[in-house]
Amino acid sequence: MKAVQVNEYGPSDVLTHVELDTPRPGPGEVAIDVEYAGVNFAEVMFRRGQFKIGVPHIPGLEVSGTVAAVGPGVTGLTIGGRVAALTLAGGGYAETVVTRADWTAPLDGPATDLSPLLAAALPCNVPVAMGLLEDAARLRVGETVLVTAPAGGVGAIVAQLARRMGASAVYGVTGSPDKTDYALGLGYDRIFTPDQLAEGIPDATDGLGVDILLDSIGGPLRASALDLLAPLGRCVIFGDASDHDTPFPGNSLWASSKSITGYNLGALAHARPTLIRDRLHHALTTTATGDLRVDVTELPLTEAAKAHDILESRTGTGKYVLRVR
Ligand SMILES: NC(=O)c1ccc[n+]([C@@H]2O[C@H](COP(=O)([O-])OP(=O)(O)OC[C@H]3O[C@@H](n4cnc5c(N)ncnc54)[C@H](OP(=O)(O)O)[C@@H]3O)[C@@H](O)[C@H]2O)c1
Repeated sequence: MKAVQVNEYGPSDVLTHVELDTPRPGPGEVAIDVEYAGVNFAEVMFRRGQFKIGVPHIPGLEVSGTVAAVGPGVTGLTIGGRVAALTLAGGGYAETVVTRADWTAPLDGPATDLSPLLAAALPCNVPVAMGLLEDAARLRVGETVLVTAPAGGVGAIVAQLARRMGASAVYGVTGSPDKTDYALGLGYDRIFTPDQLAEGIPDATDGLGVDILLDSIGGPLRASALDLLAPLGRCVIFGDASDHDTPFPGNSLWASSKSITGYNLGALAHARPTLIRDRLHHALTTTATGDLRVDVTELPLTEAAKAHDILESRTGTGKYVLRVR
């Protein structure tokens, strides 16, 4: 089968097109003939060695396609059936991937007519957006939210869900001011650049600060945004795009009555597979019924490096998906 492989950590040109044996599913697993593979910032971080997941590896944490084979003990999935799946052990940038059956959702019921392009765009970002707001930040009606990377794959979904859950205002902070109009169109109330935050958030919140900060950037931005959290506010750390983690003195949280928590889809999919699978089903249904706007740009698998460059150079908006076959 054709696949894209990372043989050594480095810039996007380490993504190498290779021919490999087709993998077979083991117990509890399913093999999927991949139609589309979603592109995630995590794959950029793995490729550049920010987290050393091992080489060689095939990137790709989510796919859509059809079931090619099922392993022993798998029920509820039939060969030839259309599915969307989390492939959190990687492998999505390939013609066939093996993943856990309980991370795989059939495209049935309300999701029957969901396009394979959209189906590959949802498995990571939509469950994460739901989990950030509901499970980690525990958003309550009337609260305010500040989101980093508001125009990206996750950020585009978070604004829509936060509004639906009753947030009184949703703000974004972007390092790319040219994305402001796009983000406003997704439902953000105001978009700031990092240097506008210190004045802009107190101004927008009557001096109170925001109730929830969802941060995937880290570094100095995280530190300064934390200062803008209201008392009893919650910061959820769910990424480190700047590759610059920040230590926090516990006593400062005590003194300010603020909370910092974290959210990791991969860890939860292992520890709480039923929760994540339910979120995946919900993501497929709400998108199929038109209740969630997901903007997708399609590229061929041969342009996987270009897709990584777009995310890494901060020039993209919405979600990028690779057409595999
Ligand atoms: N914890 C989890 O389970 C989980 C799951 C999925 C995603 N994530 C995280 O969520 C974030 C968004 O993921 P995504 O796949 O949807 O990507 P994305 O938002 O489409 O693209 C990444 C965005 O991060 C910002 N960025 C990129 N490089 C940066 C740098 N060096 N310094 C500062 N900002 C940078 C840019 O936004 P601006 O141009 O607007 O600044 C860029 O558009 C990522 O950090 C990812 O790791 C976490």
